[in-house]
Amino acid sequence: MKTTLKLTDEEQDMLGGKYGKTLQKAMQIIVGLGTIYDAERLIPVTSAQVAGVSYDNLGEAGLSFLESLAAEGITSRIPATLNPAGMDLKNWQALGIDADFAEKQLRVLRAYERLGIQTTCSCVPYLIGNQPTYGEHIAWSESSAVCFANSVLGARTNREGGPSALAAALTGRTAEYGYHLDQARQPTVRVIVESTPSSHTGFQTAYYGVLAKLISKKTAQAGKKGIPWIEGIDQISIEELKSFSASLATYGGQALFHIQGRTPEADLFPPPRQTIKISNLEVQKEIQRLRNVVKDEIDFFTLGCPHLSLREIEKIAQLVKGKSVNVEFWLTTAREIKQAADQQGWTEIIEQSGIKFSCDTCCVVAPIRGRFKALATDSLKACYYGASKHQLAVAALSIEELIDLACSAGGKS
Ligand code: F3S
Repeated sequence: MKTTLKLTDEEQDMLGGKYGKTLQKAMQIIVGLGTIYDAERLIPVTSAQVAGVSYDNLGEAGLSFLESLAAEGITSRIPATLNPAGMDLKNWQALGIDADFAEKQLRVLRAYERLGIQTTCSCVPYLIGNQPTYGEHIAWSESSAVCFANSVLGARTNREGGPSALAAALTGRTAEYGYHLDQARQPTVRVIVESTPSSHTGFQTAYYGVLAKLISKKTAQAGKKGIPWIEGIDQISIEELKSFSASLATYGGQALFHIQGRTPEADLFPPPRQTIKISNLEVQKEIQRLRNVVKDEIDFFTLGCPHLSLREIEKIAQLVKGKSVNVEFWLTTAREIKQAADQQGWTEIIEQSGIKFSCDTCCVVAPIRGRFKALATDSLKACYYGASKHQLAVAALSIEELIDLACSAGGKS
């Protein structure tokens, strides 16, 4: 491959095939991207988050590509974690996954394991030990996690695809372009938020998902799709930032935002001149619009997009204690987070209500097409993909409303 990138001797050897075909392929991906985006050099990365795990998305071609890469025995050079799979790796039968799918999904996991990727299967690596610090260069490929890492942690990553994040894990390199550079992190539009949530519970995840959706829509309408510099958000918790990041990345494709007084790079920049406003009325209208589903038709409830934090599980346990639901209701989270909830006794309280944990996966990447008619969730990202991928009617509600509704729909409260 011809490139104008300046490569070190070791990088040149990888590209030339000295270390085998797997590293050669990986380096071709990195160099290819660097060439397209006019990078001058490659830089070391300290962490990777690899998407492209669900067999529902990968199919047979993806599985055999991974198995061919894994055959050579090359492993990741840096700590690397994995995005959600298509099923709970232990409890898949109880959650209605068929055996053929499960067999293929487990082969995908074994291939990643042989490539030295930690099979964490979560989209919140930053809550389970893969938490980069300010200024670290990383290669992540989960859009919600990318947006969170860039904006909230101040780490530096482009929106990698699954193959390029895997290539970065194997080579320990990425091309230096985009969000790795100072100039690409400057805000492009000032956003004045004139709306506040009804209360500061720290769990207003649906509200912040709606707010992020409106910000991405309005910045696009104004021709200023890019990096918002946001003022008017006084209090926002990690869980709310997680939801906000997922929604902004989904509806606007954004990978970075700054919130005055809250995110680490906001004060490095003056507010951009071009300004848009988000009024309380607009937010309330959108919240109402997203409730416009016939409640009796909702046959699938889920929380955990992005995966639930331990604090969210505690909150859910408090809300469902002594209640019961008879509808299909999944909580999706990382297995490590559920294990911590087990120790606190929260899992037992939740499972007694009839709500199920579905670890390692989520409602978007699991093969649920055709199983349900209407989805209720607190996640604007799940709404988007529930409608577009699974053809579901969708409703976005707060965590409290969702649990109230599930209890009244399915049983006694
Ligand atoms: Fe995570 Fe699945 Fe949502 S990967 S961000 S829970 S779509």
